[in-house]
Amino acid sequence: MLDDVAGLLICPVCGADVALAGAALRCTNGHTFDVARQGYVNLMPGGARPGTADTPDMVAARAAFLETGHYHPLAAALAALASVAEPDVVLDAGAGTGYYLAAVLDALRSRPGPGPVGVALDISSRALRRAARAAPRIGAIAWDTWQPFPVRSGAASLILNVFAPRNAPEFHRVLRPGGTLIVVTPAESHLAELIAPAALLTVDEQKDSRLAATLGPYFSQSERRSLTIPLRLTHPEAAALIAMGPSAHHTDPAATARHLATLPSPLPVTAAFDLTVYHPR
Ligand SMILES: C[S@@+](CC[C@H](N)C(=O)[O-])C[C@H]1O[C@@H](n2cnc3c(N)ncnc32)[C@H](O)[C@@H]1O
Ligand SMILES: [Zn+2]
Repeated sequence: MLDDVAGLLICPVCGADVALAGAALRCTNGHTFDVARQGYVNLMPGGARPGTADTPDMVAARAAFLETGHYHPLAAALAALASVAEPDVVLDAGAGTGYYLAAVLDALRSRPGPGPVGVALDISSRALRRAARAAPRIGAIAWDTWQPFPVRSGAASLILNVFAPRNAPEFHRVLRPGGTLIVVTPAESHLAELIAPAALLTVDEQKDSRLAATLGPYFSQSERRSLTIPLRLTHPEAAALIAMGPSAHHTDPAATARHLATLPSPLPVTAAFDLTVYHPR
């Protein structure tokens, strides 16, 4: 709920404190942001929307695929790494439907006390509708990762970033000293079996050096884990997996379906991820 996280937020226009006032977030200088019926709030002034937002079709595919449970091992690995940090405030930058944020919060809720709160930031309001109800103590906020976050400095004890854009200076500012950043990226072999048949984008070979160049000045790496999940997918599951990814921006679902029809079912596909843990410099 937004009132769980309002105290962590600042007004995106003037930087003042904000509080929930009825169905809106309002700052002490009177800037007001309506809370959507679905429970998220759009704090982007002018509602700016770069083209990188997941489309409604991509969000629906992502929700459908994640519901199959095939990526549960990734959620579990993330939750295990997150639990070590014992966070009270978890911010997920590019949270999507909130699947991983909810898994992390759920894993931490078994401890005594009210449990941690989650802030889900994403630029796709479609995704945020789902993130807002992914777990009880999530506040979902429409925001562009490339703009200064409407979040107090040092408010977060853990930042999650799962296949989403990274703003290292802002991650550093909103993370408290001693906090933890966990970044999940696709490994080089990720979904290799689907690249040719579904014209998927290949994983950028420079990914690791780009990650180090962006985060290095602000964060030191403390741990890295590789996770490989051997999947056996039905054709609809494979289609959802393709439709939720970055290739969906440039592939035709009908062509993908024709390609998939020529492949065995179930289809063996390997998902491969790198999970990297950082601490602020
Ligand atoms: C590949 S999805 C990953 C979503 C989620 N982390 C997950 O793994 O299920 C990338 C997410 O980043 C969001 N996104 C893309 N550009 C963004 C931006 N500039 N600011 C905030 N979110 C952005 C998309 O809307 C999408 O939800
Ligand atoms: Zn204000």
